[in-house]
Amino acid sequence: MTAPILRRLADLRALTRRWHGDNETIGVVPTMGALHKGHLSLVKAAKAGCDRVIVTIFVNPKQFNNPEDLANYPRTENEDAEKLAPYGVDAIYVPDPEEVYPQGFSTTVTVSGLTDVMEGPFRPGHFDGVATVVAKLFLQTQADRAYFGEKDYQQLLVVRRMARDLDIPIEVIGCPTVREASGLAMSSRNLLLSPEGIATAVKISEVMQTLSDRLINGHPFEPLKQQAEADLLNAGFSQVEYIDLRCAETLEALPHASRPARLFVTAWADGVRLIDNIAVPAT
Ligand code: PAF
Repeated sequence: MTAPILRRLADLRALTRRWHGDNETIGVVPTMGALHKGHLSLVKAAKAGCDRVIVTIFVNPKQFNNPEDLANYPRTENEDAEKLAPYGVDAIYVPDPEEVYPQGFSTTVTVSGLTDVMEGPFRPGHFDGVATVVAKLFLQTQADRAYFGEKDYQQLLVVRRMARDLDIPIEVIGCPTVREASGLAMSSRNLLLSPEGIATAVKISEVMQTLSDRLINGHPFEPLKQQAEADLLNAGFSQVEYIDLRCAETLEALPHASRPARLFVTAWADGVRLIDNIAVPAT
């Protein structure tokens, strides 16, 4: 059965008040729609961990630094609702824009430090937009737990820090990246890739895995990074924005896999910006 679609905050609040009044826990899965198996794995985790589950769908203009990217972002509400039907979610919150950004909205949530690296410099304003909308969605849904994919690992750390710093009483749970059989991380952006683009894109996970295996064998990062960049360019990527090895908790750059780390890659194939990351255990 398809879940009710709510567009007004007052309607959402009426439900969440009732659920909390009955001592039920609420999980939220924030999304921008164009749902794929990665999102659905978050919904499954929320269903397993909470009595009630809300999926939010809101294409947040404040987190797009490129107006073309915002205009081209897929909007597939009916298909999304159909995809959610088998999961038994309790509500789909698709807020009217003025419910999120009412006339005269003038507050921005900025998380410093974690946002100074990787996606931060490449996408100015992006994390302010994410932190602001996610703070609103946490407060609007009154959820006890929120589910985010590790695919956007930096985003996961940023929203976790934001909730902690602002004393929003919610547990932010990271869920593993869902991959195609080829290793390609699931992403709404994969829809924009041609078959040749997909053949190139799958190389990201191969290159990351090779690099990670060498790090685990004790090799230093810098020469491996140069080799990985050359491998990606040879595989057909037009540009590699960054390949970073960072502490999994603080995102501090690491010269070796000397503590639990993540390896991050962002590169362009077929005119599409692809990001991915994997865990690298400490050696
Ligand atoms: O990851 C996303 O889809 C978005 O950044 C989020 C968390 C829904 C905020 O708009």
